[in-house]
Amino acid sequence: MQRRGFVLFAVRKNIQEKVKFMNKIKIAIVGIGNCASSLIQGIHYYRQKTRQNAIGLMHWEIGGYSPGDIEVVMAFDIDQRKVGIDVHEAIFSLPNCTTVFHSEIPASGVTVRMGRILDGFSDHMKDYDEKRTFVLADEPEPCEADIIKLLKESSADVLLNYLPVGSEEATRFYVACAYKAGVALINNIPVFIASDPEGEYANHFNEAGLPLIGDDIKSQLGATITHRLLTDLFAKRGVKLERTYQLNTGGNTDFLNMLNRHRLASKKISKTESVQAVTHCRLDDDDIHVGPSDYVPWQNDNKVAFVRMEGKLFGDVPMSLEMRLSVEDSPNSAGVAIDMIRCVKLALNRGQSGILEGPSAYFCKHPLTQFTDEEAFRMVEEFIIDEGVVRGEVLDYRSGQRQPAAAEG
Ligand SMILES: NC(=O)c1ccc[n+]([C@@H]2O[C@H](COP(=O)([O-])OP(=O)(O)OC[C@H]3O[C@@H](n4cnc5c(N)ncnc54)[C@H](O)[C@@H]3O)[C@@H](O)[C@H]2O)c1
Repeated sequence: MQRRGFVLFAVRKNIQEKVKFMNKIKIAIVGIGNCASSLIQGIHYYRQKTRQNAIGLMHWEIGGYSPGDIEVVMAFDIDQRKVGIDVHEAIFSLPNCTTVFHSEIPASGVTVRMGRILDGFSDHMKDYDEKRTFVLADEPEPCEADIIKLLKESSADVLLNYLPVGSEEATRFYVACAYKAGVALINNIPVFIASDPEGEYANHFNEAGLPLIGDDIKSQLGATITHRLLTDLFAKRGVKLERTYQLNTGGNTDFLNMLNRHRLASKKISKTESVQAVTHCRLDDDDIHVGPSDYVPWQNDNKVAFVRMEGKLFGDVPMSLEMRLSVEDSPNSAGVAIDMIRCVKLALNRGQSGILEGPSAYFCKHPLTQFTDEEAFRMVEEFIIDEGVVRGEVLDYRSGQRQPAAAEG
C-alpha cells in the first residue's frame, strides 16, 4: 500500500514536470512502421500550412493545438534498419512502403531505441524477402524499468501503440510501462485495453491521473466507417440488411503479418463488431464476414476494400449494394491519429483521466461502448469545446491556471 502511494506520487510528480512544456505535445511511439511514418510526415507537412489552405484534416485546431505542435520525443522498434538511427530517418527505412508526401524532415535528435520483442514478431515473417518483412535487430532487449526510465526522461505526454496485429503480450507490456511512467495512451491496435470489459487498464490509468483512447484506430475514410455509415443508412431507410461482407487486400507489413490467422482473432472481432454495432438487428455470425483477406505485395500501402450488402426493401423486394474503396492505408490512419493526440493533450490539460468516451467511440473501431458515428462525432465536438477552455488557451491541469497555447503555424 505504501509502495503504491509512492508510485502514484512519482507518477503525479512526473505529470507536474510536463506542465512546464505546455507549448508542444510530446509523443512517444512504439512501432515505427507505415502509420508512424505518415503521422510524422503529416506533422511536418502541416507546419507549412495555415488554417485556410490545409486539406485533409478533421480539425485544424484542437484545444489551441494545430498539427505542427506535435513532436516525437521517444521511439521504439525492433527492426535492425530502424533501431539506432534518428526517428525521422527511420520512418523512410524498409520495409516501410507508404507514400512519401513530405520528405523534407530535419533530424529530430531522437534515436529509435530497441524495444521488447515478445510477440511483436510472428515466426512466419522470417519466410519473406527482407525488403518486405521485419528484420530483427541484434541489440539487447530493455526491461520494464528501462522503458519506464526512458519514457520519464523524455517527458512524453502520450504513448502511441502501433505494434503489429496480434501483439497481445507486447501491447500489455508497453501499456504498463506507460501508466507507470505517468504517460497517457492511444491504443491504435486491436488488443482490448480501453475496451477491456473488466476495466483493469482504465483503472490503472484513472489512478495515475491519465487519459486513454482506444482500441484499434478507425481510419479517416476507410472501410470501417464507410461500411458502418451504409449499415446505418439501411437501418434508417427501413431496409433489412440480411447479409454482408467486407474483404480487404493490401501489400504492406500489416497485411503480411495478418497472413498468420492465429494473430487475427481480436482484429476480426474489432472490425466485425464495429459494423454489427450499427445494424438494426444483429446479424447471425454466418451472415457477416468482415476482415483482412489477402496480402498482395504490389499493392504496397494501398488497401482495397470490397463491400457487399444484401437486403430487402419495400414489399420484401431484394436489393444489393457493392462498393470498392481504394485508399493509401497509413495516411488514412494518420488523419485520425493527429486528432486523437490533441484530444489526449486536451484531457491532460483539463486534468481528465480514464477512458475518453467520445474520442474512443469516434476514432476507434472497438471502444468500450459503441455509438453511431453521428453520435460519436457530436460527443467529440462537445468534448473539444467543453467549458473551461477557450481557443488560444490551455488550462494547466494541476494549478487550474490558464496559459496561452502554442502559436498557430
Ligand atoms: N493503417 C491503418 O489505417 C490502421 C488502422 C487500424 C489499425 N492499424 C494498426 O496499426 C498498427 C501499425 O500499422 P502499420 O501499418 O504502421 O504497421 P507496420 O507493420 O508498418 O509497423 C509495425 C512496426 O512495429 C515494429 N515492431 C514489431 N514488434 C515490435 C516490438 N515488440 N516493439 C517495438 N516495435 C515493434 C515493426 O518493426 C514495425 O516497424 C497495426 O497493428 C495495424 O493493424 C492500422
